[in-house]
Amino acid sequence: MNKKTIRDVDLQGKRVLIRVDFNVPLKEGEVADDTRIQAALPTIRHLLDQDAAVILMSHLGRPKGAVVDELRMDPVAARLSELLDRPVSKLDDCVGPQVEQAVAEMEAGQIIVLENTRFHPEEKADDVDFARQLAALADVYVNDAFGATHRAHASTVGVAQAMRDKGGAAVAGLLVEEELRLLGKAVDDPEHPFVAILGGAKISDKISVVESLLGTCDRLLIGGGMANTFFRAMGYQVGDSLVEEDSVPTAKSLLDQAGGKLVLPVDVVIADAFDNDAQSNVVAPNEVPEGWQILDIGPKTVATFESALKSAKTVTWNGPLGVFEMPTFAAGTFDIARLLAQLDAVTIVGGGESAAAVQQVGLADQMTHVSTGGGASLQFLEGKPLPGVEVLDDK
Ligand code: 3PG
Repeated sequence: MNKKTIRDVDLQGKRVLIRVDFNVPLKEGEVADDTRIQAALPTIRHLLDQDAAVILMSHLGRPKGAVVDELRMDPVAARLSELLDRPVSKLDDCVGPQVEQAVAEMEAGQIIVLENTRFHPEEKADDVDFARQLAALADVYVNDAFGATHRAHASTVGVAQAMRDKGGAAVAGLLVEEELRLLGKAVDDPEHPFVAILGGAKISDKISVVESLLGTCDRLLIGGGMANTFFRAMGYQVGDSLVEEDSVPTAKSLLDQAGGKLVLPVDVVIADAFDNDAQSNVVAPNEVPEGWQILDIGPKTVATFESALKSAKTVTWNGPLGVFEMPTFAAGTFDIARLLAQLDAVTIVGGGESAAAVQQVGLADQMTHVSTGGGASLQFLEGKPLPGVEVLDDK
């Protein structure tokens, strides 16, 4: 990586502002999955070892620029304190006089979590003034929020520029460094055969990633709702299945470009309602009756994908292959997770839902890497720059 990291700057006794991605699922006011908090611990510990005063900031959910009590950072700070086994203070804002005073009084080794940055509309607007107020809190800025590096917001982009303007450093944390190293290998120098798996509901989100992967991979396996738009492009009737009509022409041209690389489901699990207890059946994708919808890939498809994956040396997976939140339609996604776990290959799972699926079957530690970034890992696989990384200090 050509960007400076926390290993390249003097942090001894400094006040350090770290942008983390603590956008974690909450349940009944508590953190339901702390993977992203755990992933930031190496950077936080590195700073504590240097006697830094650590100020953490993150977004949580999408509060649309207003205070939403359910999206306060308190449960996150509490979980962080448990994981570190030391006190963590939580402030009720991320800028303003009270924050400035609390930060000015910080001692070495103290940890503060600021309030949800998205409570301010200036965050998503990448407002220069707001970014300056954030940068004013510290001597050094660290971006360790891999999952938010595709967002050009004040806490990911503006603040880095503002920190540099006032003579401070803006560097990457250890998680960002590790994610870029592992994802970068899959993008720049994958060992072949390289098989990519793409799922998820929408093709419109993934058109450029399909194009980019078709250039580098040997096989591209498609499942999930996005396969339906390809089926429609092939002239199939798919009943009530989710189809993005606007994207049908694009799907057609991707099929033309792909040659034999693109592998679509050969059978699908259908249901007569979007309900776990609906009546269900397995059919060929061109045999979906009126009123029924495709909700998972079928067993023959799993076998087809298995033969494509068997000899793979690199596999990337982004997006579930069915509606795995409902047990009746989870088999395809979970079977693929199990297949990946058995491969003698570099296996990289993009964040978000596919990462959650891999966690759910207890196979996260059988993968080479499970990314903490959903949108960010996709954008990286597309070969597009990540603004939160681009803006950091060059080596
Ligand atoms: C994520 O969950 O992918 C990141 O935290 C980014 O969240 P966002 O999509 O709300 O910007």
